[in-house]
Amino acid sequence: MFSRRDTAEKVTEGIDLTGKTIAITGVNSGLGYESMRVLAARGAHVIGLARSLEKAQKACSSVEGETTPFACELSDLNSVKECANQINELKSPIDVLICNAGIMALPDLTVKDGLEMQFLTNHMGHFLLVYLIQEKLKQASEGRIVMLSSAAHQLTVKGGINFNNLDGSKGYSSWKFYGQSKLANLLTAKAFDQRLQSFGVRANAIHPGVINTNLSRNLDGVFGSLLKLPFADYLMNNVFGKTIPQGSSTQCYVATNPELSNVGGKYFADNNEEKTSYYGGHLPLADKLWDFSLQYLQPYLADVTLESEETEQEAT
Ligand SMILES: NC(=O)c1ccc[n+]([C@@H]2O[C@H](COP(=O)([O-])OP(=O)(O)OC[C@H]3O[C@@H](n4cnc5c(N)ncnc54)[C@H](OP(=O)(O)O)[C@@H]3O)[C@@H](O)[C@H]2O)c1
Repeated sequence: MFSRRDTAEKVTEGIDLTGKTIAITGVNSGLGYESMRVLAARGAHVIGLARSLEKAQKACSSVEGETTPFACELSDLNSVKECANQINELKSPIDVLICNAGIMALPDLTVKDGLEMQFLTNHMGHFLLVYLIQEKLKQASEGRIVMLSSAAHQLTVKGGINFNNLDGSKGYSSWKFYGQSKLANLLTAKAFDQRLQSFGVRANAIHPGVINTNLSRNLDGVFGSLLKLPFADYLMNNVFGKTIPQGSSTQCYVATNPELSNVGGKYFADNNEEKTSYYGGHLPLADKLWDFSLQYLQPYLADVTLESEETEQEAT
């Protein structure tokens, strides 16, 4: 049993990932970079995704082990589709996809393609990526999806996900919209787990802890000022939060621990299963989000045929 202060290296100690292929979004910074470093060191071939190929290449080339960089700008759904096409052309299955990239608490409402930017980036971009590479995950002996949620999923808007205000035009709060996007990540893990477990793919969500990474770049006000003080790093690493190696542990644990090979639809924090909020366990809301996301993403899914659909067609 691992604890809050255990690092990604600690929770993967003795696990040989040779022959496994692990895709991670947001590998150029923070938890994604450390996860790539540790999982590649354990023998995995890491597909390192970042907003641009240049960022992905720079990050991948700075760690030991086998890595392949691809561009994946999550707020540009054409970029996500292009990235998924590149992943689908790889010879190997994808054993694990860690949906790690994210943005937090944008102070001003930003809207793109009709969606508030945190919902578009954190949720919709990742939803499309998972959906488009699901056949690659099904080809793995035990496919896993790890969605980076957050304890902040509890701070979400009224009703959990407000489908009538996904562009923020009826009111915007930086934290509530971050919370909404992280609740969407949590519910998406449950939704994919339900639909893919019969194909041997399990999906879980995690909260990594509170870690002083570039994620706080948009914070203003008192909290933003406190983080800039000279002793902030010490307090965040040792008192209020965790270090980056500790913060990366839960996603690496859920991605690789053999005891979790048939565990899905759960929420983990500090390397252990954790309870979620009321909306975090709301399966009808997860189904509604699934339907909304598929409908929204129709233009990117028109040419996609899934294994299950092929089987249905053969049977008729
Ligand atoms: N740190 C915490 O305390 C904490 C707590 C709870 C949950 N989390 C979650 O943990 C995950 C990792 O965060 P972190 O703390 O490691 O933050 P970070 O250091 O800021 O890393 C975030 C990563 O996401 C990438 N990213 C942002 N927008 C993107 C986009 N549109 N397309 C593709 N990639 C994009 C960033 O790329 P650029 O550098 O190019 O922007 C960066 O690589 C996030 O999902 C976050 O919500 C973190």
